[in-house]
Amino acid sequence: MIRVRIANREQIPVMVTEDLRRQLERKPDSVLGLPTGSTPMMVYRELVAQQAQGKIDFSHVTTFNLDEYVGLDEKHAQSYKYYMYENFFRHVNIDLNNTHIPNGTTKNLEEECRRYENLIEQSGGIDWLLLGIGLNGHIGFNEPGESLIAATHVQKLREETRTANVRFFGSSQNVPTHAITMGMGSILKVMKIVLVAFGKEKAEIVAKAINGPVTTWVPASFLQLHRDVTFVLDQEAASEIKSI
Ligand code: PGA
Repeated sequence: MIRVRIANREQIPVMVTEDLRRQLERKPDSVLGLPTGSTPMMVYRELVAQQAQGKIDFSHVTTFNLDEYVGLDEKHAQSYKYYMYENFFRHVNIDLNNTHIPNGTTKNLEEECRRYENLIEQSGGIDWLLLGIGLNGHIGFNEPGESLIAATHVQKLREETRTANVRFFGSSQNVPTHAITMGMGSILKVMKIVLVAFGKEKAEIVAKAINGPVTTWVPASFLQLHRDVTFVLDQEAASEIKSI
């Protein structure tokens, strides 16, 4: 079931932080699933600010990122490893040994996907996952298509996704063609999911995810099958939702 909460854009990171703070109060050693992209940036800023004030504590958490580009190492400014370190990990009291991101530069990518999926299992599974949503409905890098893959896998990126990311890479040739991503099954196994979206450009896909049929052509629509999902949206992103 998808719950919807609508707030001013500035309030959204505060609401998400509050939700995570309550999660960590219940279970200080929670396993967290974390996204990258522009939407979560505000959330990371708020988490860093609240940790600096001693209001939230990451010292016992384990984290798994949703995805990583194939071919970019941690020194590449657009790798998600770099993003996480620069925007979150280096500013908070988290043990880097407990942070996990798929390795997109290993020779054996299939083996890396299996290793990552097993590692999530061995950690006891993800308790709380933060998600963004792509304009084409992807979550993680589970792209729309004829079918979806359940476990962590190598995903060929669709052209619209590569185009949406040109802004980070300068030119389209520089945008990676593939990524490692948690699969739809990895995501649906999470205990609690919070999806954040804002802006008018996300309104149509958010409405499809919530009100439309469950279809592999809108991967986020699979969240309708999960029992604890909250979409946290600003007015613009929520503007095309029909009541549920
Ligand atoms: P964005 O990306 O936050 O940069 O819009 C969302 C996504 O593609 O998951």
